[in-house]
Amino acid sequence: MAILPLPLMIIIVTLVSHTASFAAAAAATRTYNVVSLGAKADGKTDSAQAFLAAWAKACASPKSAIVYVPQGRFFLKNVVFGGECNNNVTFSIAGTLVAPSDYRVIGYSDNWILFHHVNGVTISGGILDAQGTSLWACKKSGEGCPGGATSLEFSNSENIKIMGLTSINSQMFHIVINCCNNVKLQGVSVSASGNSPNTDGIHVEASTGVTILNSQIGTGDDCVSIGPGTTNLWIQDIACGPGHGISIGSLGKELKEAGVQNVTVKTTTFTGTENGFRIKSWGRPSSGFARSILFQHGIMINVQNPIIIDQNYCPDEKNCPGQDSGVKVSNVTYQDINGTSATEVAVKFDCSSKSSCSNIRLQDVNLTYKNVLPAQASCNHASGTASGLVQPSSCLSLRIA
Ligand SMILES: *[C@@H]1O[C@H](CO)[C@@H](O)[C@H](O)[C@H]1NC(C)=O
Ligand SMILES: *[C@@H]1O[C@H](CO)[C@@H](O)[C@H](O)[C@H]1NC(C)=O
Ligand SMILES: *[C@@H]1O[C@H](CO)[C@@H](O)[C@H](O)[C@H]1NC(C)=O
Ligand SMILES: *[C@@H]1O[C@H](CO)[C@@H](O)[C@H](O)[C@H]1NC(C)=O
Ligand SMILES: *[C@@H]1O[C@H](CO)[C@@H](O)[C@H](O)[C@H]1NC(C)=O
Repeated sequence: MAILPLPLMIIIVTLVSHTASFAAAAAATRTYNVVSLGAKADGKTDSAQAFLAAWAKACASPKSAIVYVPQGRFFLKNVVFGGECNNNVTFSIAGTLVAPSDYRVIGYSDNWILFHHVNGVTISGGILDAQGTSLWACKKSGEGCPGGATSLEFSNSENIKIMGLTSINSQMFHIVINCCNNVKLQGVSVSASGNSPNTDGIHVEASTGVTILNSQIGTGDDCVSIGPGTTNLWIQDIACGPGHGISIGSLGKELKEAGVQNVTVKTTTFTGTENGFRIKSWGRPSSGFARSILFQHGIMINVQNPIIIDQNYCPDEKNCPGQDSGVKVSNVTYQDINGTSATEVAVKFDCSSKSSCSNIRLQDVNLTYKNVLPAQASCNHASGTASGLVQPSSCLSLRIA
């Protein structure tokens, strides 16, 4: 560059940097604050329309966009976000979304907050407070209560991230991932009473490529439940309890049903839960299956059924008494699992006499009964191998004819 008089050089430099920052601003994300669009952080004005308006603007924006929810409590009735967006949309939530305390308002719908047919949506932060306690009380008294709404569901969607979200006191399931592809949940926290009915933490169904990392789940039903048609699921670094454990199932409710395949559950701690690693199927005919499952690096603290396969699920003995499960369970590995069982039978494989469990592997499993007593294993129609230190000793048969 030619040497210019100093004042001129400063002008040129200023111009160049100005142009650069202008370009950066044009490429930067657009932010739509729900409060600017009419939401009220007062915990009682229905802000659904403002949320939908922010979503519509973010979705239509030619650049990637943020829906921003500032601090405060935002009251929402049922809300559905859907549609093809021009870009990726992030919900950045500093505040709390609150459902009506009267359970009848959202309790007859399947969902409180639903995203369907979306691509590239991220939820970052935030608290969902579904105020489910009154519905649980109604259900316990058994008087014609609605089924209840799932707090947050993604269905028929792809490339989804849920990061740092907290869900408390859902009416039914807390988070559902249904018919989705490529979903990552990280740093999620779920909290509900240990005796709240059907409040599963994270339910995954008919989805592929779901990853659940570094999450803390305490609730009244399964911490994570894995339904038919789930493949390539990865779960790692989970603290579960209270709750019913990490469950594959219930499978085999339908005659024609997609299977569950390639599930890894790694580095989990169960504290005072009903189950640890569970596979559960209805005792009735089905084309379903569960295969290529790895349960690895587990710690059990006072867990009623640390390792369990139950293929005779038949609630209220309705529509299945005396029937065998058609669900085929095979290639399931339990590796490096320590801790204490709250019941004497720490390892239970209660498989179908019609389609027995095969290729079950136990490796380095050390479970005691109440810390000091020896635990027992129980097997029905289960074959496989054991290696390393396995306590209670394996009852798997080498092969079932
Ligand atoms: C959306 O995000 C994905 C990565 O998650 C990226 O590959 C894609 O290019 C983004 N799309 C737009 C329109 O920004
Ligand atoms: C199993 O799932 C994992 C993700 O959890 C994936 O990386 C891997 O490729 C899958 N394996 C097969 C054989 O599909
Ligand atoms: C058995 O499952 C493991 C995952 O635990 C997988 O890597 C392996 O490929 C499966 N084997 C067969 C024969 O499907
Ligand atoms: C289980 O105990 C063994 C032996 O003390 C130890 O090497 C292993 O790291 C423990 N595993 C877990 C998951 O805590
Ligand atoms: C198995 O666990 C019990 C109870 O925690 C412990 O006392 C024992 O040393 C463990 N055995 C091995 C081989 O690690």
